[in-house]
Amino acid sequence: MDQLDQLDRRRFLAASSALAAGSLLSRHAFAESRAQFPKDFLWGMATASYQIEGAWDEDGKAESIWDRYTHTVGKIKGAATGDVACDSYHRYREDIAILKQLNQKSGRFSISWSRIQPSGTGPANPKGLDYYSRYVDALLEAGIRPFCTLYHWDLPQGLEDRGGWPNRDLAGYFADYAGILAKALGDRIAVWAPFNMPWAFTYYGYGIGIHPPGRAEYGLFIKAAHTVALAQGECSRAIKAASSKATVGSAYSMAPGYPKTDSEADIAATARYHAMNNLYFLEAAMKGEYPKAFVGETPFELMGYKAGDDKIMKAPLDWVGFHYYTRRVISDAKNTGSAGPARFGTETESDAPDANGRDPYTRFHAIMPTDHPLTEAGLEIYPHGIYDLVMQITREYNKPIIEITESGCCYNDTPYDAEGGHVPDTRRIAFFRGHLSELARAIHDGARVRAYHAWSLLDNFEWTDGYTQRYGLTYVDYRSQKRVVKDSGLWYGQLAATGQL
Ligand code: FCB
Repeated sequence: MDQLDQLDRRRFLAASSALAAGSLLSRHAFAESRAQFPKDFLWGMATASYQIEGAWDEDGKAESIWDRYTHTVGKIKGAATGDVACDSYHRYREDIAILKQLNQKSGRFSISWSRIQPSGTGPANPKGLDYYSRYVDALLEAGIRPFCTLYHWDLPQGLEDRGGWPNRDLAGYFADYAGILAKALGDRIAVWAPFNMPWAFTYYGYGIGIHPPGRAEYGLFIKAAHTVALAQGECSRAIKAASSKATVGSAYSMAPGYPKTDSEADIAATARYHAMNNLYFLEAAMKGEYPKAFVGETPFELMGYKAGDDKIMKAPLDWVGFHYYTRRVISDAKNTGSAGPARFGTETESDAPDANGRDPYTRFHAIMPTDHPLTEAGLEIYPHGIYDLVMQITREYNKPIIEITESGCCYNDTPYDAEGGHVPDTRRIAFFRGHLSELARAIHDGARVRAYHAWSLLDNFEWTDGYTQRYGLTYVDYRSQKRVVKDSGLWYGQLAATGQL
């Protein structure tokens, strides 16, 4: 090494250790000062229709794809179904009272399409509309902002029978459904998100068949995703035409991706992963185009793309909503060689055995690492990821208003008699404390985050895991339907009151 090189190297080392010390210092100082959230920050909790309502065939509701799936032998752990779930259809007032008791300011809930239009098209079912109208009124009476998700995975079976999401006619049907809702509820709801986790339900349901309708073909996935991107735009216009106070955002699943090595190939693969898993529908809405998720050309033909679709997809969001549960480590498919069997769960993902990666178009391997402790659902706990993700979206989309639509963890703690029936779920408190302090740091560093929704108000039906995973801040005894607010719920309620972590 010649002298100049050595000098450069010393300068570089000095500069980088100063940088590291500086950032350590600011993180430390920040933690010491006990994060204070903005006064008007919206503390909230989230739920989803199929996971809590039960009453699967009441008041004119028809079958959804989740009803069909859970009624099929062998699909769900413990043969569980959402037929009764938390019985919230009948107990919603009690549930909203818990939100109020815990000082919540935002209640994110979803509407079951097959209660509103039983077969997916045609006139509205007055009883279905009436239920959600009463629900929204009860939220407002409790001083809670209603946040409405139009679709949290429970497609009317009648529409699956017509081809499901790969059939692009569903974009128009979805807009009709949205219009009905905005007309009936748009005088009281100002915050709408068309789809919960669009990448996940299209990929799981049509790409690999681990969720209903259980179809598994890449072409079906990419078609379904395209219909959903069209539906997102159509729905936004339908809502805004019917309600002048409506704002439309999202409830995307996002998990920050970190390259496995600093090779160019892994960095490029991480960019493709980010485009496919995090930004696909966001870019579609904001710009009317798909981001560069593919190694070669965008497979327009496979997705059934037609001239003019860009204009249909484009409907810029008023705010950007996404969930955070955990992270991914990404590598270029060709570099990894063979890997273990693919495993996908609602929030997990592990390497696919195929040398092409998950599919021949995106060609990356994504895994959820296990370097840190795991929750009881097997998700790696990585609080720093929420900071990275929020800052990344803040940079890439020019400081949008952000809502965290879900964040939470599974721990199966139960009421403890020796402590007066309390549920001492201290690990959940630690989880929220860690994530919220990283979120506060992002706000401090300039991110415009206005809301955080803990998943979930109640223990509930956790999809193919049935009732084996408890995510609630309230414990539910499924035999008696008795609710007990867990220690984490009490802690979170206190935080909502003071805003101080
Ligand atoms: C999210 C889903 C939600 C719940 C949590 C644990 O992916 O939106 O319904 O299953 O995970």
